[in-house]
Amino acid sequence: MAVQWYPGHMNKARRIIKETMSDVDLVIEVMDARIPFSSENPMVAELRQHRPCIKILNKSDLADPEITKMWLQHFEKEQGVKAQALSVQDKSRTRNLPELCRKLLPGRGGAVKYIRVMIMGIPNVGKSTLINTLAGKTLAKVGDEPAVTKMVSSAQQRIILQDDIALSDTPGILWPKIVNENSSYRLAITGAIKNTAIDFEDIAVFAADYLIDAYGDRVVDRYKLKQCPETGIELLEELGRRRGCLRAGGIIDIQRASEILIHEIRSGVLGPLSFETPEMIAKETLVEELESND
Ligand code: G4P
Repeated sequence: MAVQWYPGHMNKARRIIKETMSDVDLVIEVMDARIPFSSENPMVAELRQHRPCIKILNKSDLADPEITKMWLQHFEKEQGVKAQALSVQDKSRTRNLPELCRKLLPGRGGAVKYIRVMIMGIPNVGKSTLINTLAGKTLAKVGDEPAVTKMVSSAQQRIILQDDIALSDTPGILWPKIVNENSSYRLAITGAIKNTAIDFEDIAVFAADYLIDAYGDRVVDRYKLKQCPETGIELLEELGRRRGCLRAGGIIDIQRASEILIHEIRSGVLGPLSFETPEMIAKETLVEELESND
């Protein structure tokens, strides 16, 4: 599945974020807990340099808790990083974030030396929701065109939290860094890539193959199957049959079945699901390295 961002836009985003960074003491990077690797952007590490970073694995209500634990341990090994799983439902944990900021910057804080915080991340991971929860009110939603950064430093306002944290009211929007085809599928499944830019059938086959492999029991339960299908396409055919997705002549409408499956994954009815583990990513990275050396 080919997804293309434009180098010109990326360079512009990098330049604007770099300029803004001189007024930032701490970065909060928001990622999707279901796909922490694919929804992370390495540009954050490059741009924040020595500044501490809180990595939020958001939407943890939709992610597999055991796998989220593995990712938290993985990120905590990084220099200057604190990782936390979060979900919009949990407002009290979200509002503890200022305390974590203070711990990471013990020398700053207080009305004279505000801790200046910027929230960053790719579209649709929950940046605006997080800002609104922290602010305790609804601020305007920033557009989420992955190809264009809407972060304009001069237009930024700061929200003062608990007297000593100055949070930019506009998040820094970055593109997903699509390192390989699997990442682009995972981003599409979770909704980080706009529906108009994806082929549902293509991503549903990928998703169904993965579900059979990683969450076969849940597939059997949800679709009331006697046994788990062997391939993704068989699962989509079965789902199509059971949900009445039929075209003229009784042919199964795989496109409709694909839309249903993706919708069900995103809404959480199949239970909390994660689409990558640190181990999977390590293997995929190794395979890529070996292939590029051939
Ligand atoms: P962004 O600024 O990073 O682009 O993301 P935004 O906050 O707009 O959130 C994108 C979608 O993700 C929103 O749903 C939001 O409600 C949902 N969301 C954010 N955090 C969480 C979370 O922790 N758990 C779950 N389950 N969902 C979360 P939407 O359908 O696009 O909008 P709406 O229905 O909330 O209006």
